[in-house]
Amino acid sequence: MTAPLIEFDREMINRYNHSGPRYTSYPTAVTFHEGYKIEDYDAACRDGNNDPVPAPLSLYFHVPFCDTVCFYCGCNKIVTKHKSRAKPYLEMLDREIEIVGAKLADDREVEQLHLGGGTPTFLSEAEISHLMWKVQSHFNARPSERKDYSIEIDPRSVTPHYIQVLGTLGFNRYSLGVQDVDLKVQKAVNRVQSVKMTREVLSACRDAGAKSINIDLIYGLPFQTPASFRETVDVVIGMEPDRLSIFNYAHLPEMFKAQRRINAEDLPSAQQKLEILQITIKQLSDAGYIYIGMDHFAKPDDELVIARQTGHLHRNFQGYTTHGNCDLVAMGVSAISNIRGVFSQNYKDELRYTQALGNGELPIMKGYIMTDEDRLRAAVIQRISCYGKLDIPKFESRYKIDFKTHFRLALEALQPMIEDELVSVNETTLEVSAKGRLLVRNICMAFDEHIQSVGSERFSKAI
Ligand SMILES: C[S@@+](CC[C@H](N)C(=O)[O-])C[C@H]1O[C@@H](n2cnc3c(N)ncnc32)[C@H](O)[C@@H]1O
Ligand code: SF4
Repeated sequence: MTAPLIEFDREMINRYNHSGPRYTSYPTAVTFHEGYKIEDYDAACRDGNNDPVPAPLSLYFHVPFCDTVCFYCGCNKIVTKHKSRAKPYLEMLDREIEIVGAKLADDREVEQLHLGGGTPTFLSEAEISHLMWKVQSHFNARPSERKDYSIEIDPRSVTPHYIQVLGTLGFNRYSLGVQDVDLKVQKAVNRVQSVKMTREVLSACRDAGAKSINIDLIYGLPFQTPASFRETVDVVIGMEPDRLSIFNYAHLPEMFKAQRRINAEDLPSAQQKLEILQITIKQLSDAGYIYIGMDHFAKPDDELVIARQTGHLHRNFQGYTTHGNCDLVAMGVSAISNIRGVFSQNYKDELRYTQALGNGELPIMKGYIMTDEDRLRAAVIQRISCYGKLDIPKFESRYKIDFKTHFRLALEALQPMIEDELVSVNETTLEVSAKGRLLVRNICMAFDEHIQSVGSERFSKAI
């Protein structure tokens, strides 16, 4: 499989730019319900342990703290200047690690580990070292070159020494928040971060032996123009990250309080945003980056690009990954696990999370058990979002269905997109076209049985 092309078609983007999920899971988290029971979680762990070849694990830990607020932020975070706030939270996280670790068999190796937030680097060197020690005491989690241990870094919160410590703890993938390098934009979003600072952190990550470095940018922020963002992208390309995430700013001030501090009049128009995206895609492809899908770009020799070519690419709560064989076990506030198709989400609020663990209980707020039909549809959505292509006869023989009969309604919903040449379906193949790639969420939505009942308005727009 060669790397597929991406074509920017402004008319199509305007026509199909509706709200929709990013499909880091199917069904999406809005389908989870409170009727879910802890016994469901226990049974999933037990069944997984008893599988002839138990799945390896991908662990996620949510560290919600940040010492300042970025006005655009839509993450689950707690903003505080008090470093001492982390201590009681980490004590509870320790308890959660003990409870969860005891449910999973020792032979289940941790292939992937990710610390996200908020800002994991809010923790002191001693705190983060303790956390990793605790993880290794309760899981089979010895880091190695072959495994992916990653962390989100706010460059404003670390020193070169801190990065060195991360390296000794086994981290080998780093993701740096940058967003924009223009001072006017940075001031408008309350995140002033010099290019020099970002470069220093990046080089400290390389010195610590990083296997891969990602940079996050956001387009659609106040005062951004096509020219200013072009400059940001040029500066960032000059830093030669292995991967780039280019997020679309989702302005939802009724949902995220801090966003009320952004003036809607200062935001670029929808047409300007499209122009920014078009220029960015051209800059990145001219610089040799390959579009993986939904916001993500990587260098041609990156594992994600290779996985896309060899059929090992997956999409889960951590975005695109090469560890699709793992059960996802997530800890900390709001964290979402997927153990053998049994989803569970922790309380989002620190107090409820702490209370549950204080009582010796898992802090699960809601969950969902996948049905056979969900598994089938999740497999279609995986194929479309990772490869843009599905081999119909192979799929039929694997899942024992007649594709066109089974997905009659989905194919009807897809018809306008087929007519607009965003996707094609014949007897053997469903394939997303180069101009459909930016609208892949819409194509996935046709196969989403739950979207009608939960509504798509609560999701962000594709572009
Ligand atoms: C948890 S933060 C990254 C780590 C660290 N806290 C930092 O800011 O550097 C994850 C990323 O989400 C993205 N993000 C946050 N809020 C967003 C929003 N409203 N729209 C689009 N992207 C957003 C940013 O690119 C950010 O770097
Ligand atoms: S972008 Fe990162 S540092 Fe800024 S508020 Fe959000 S989580 Fe915190």
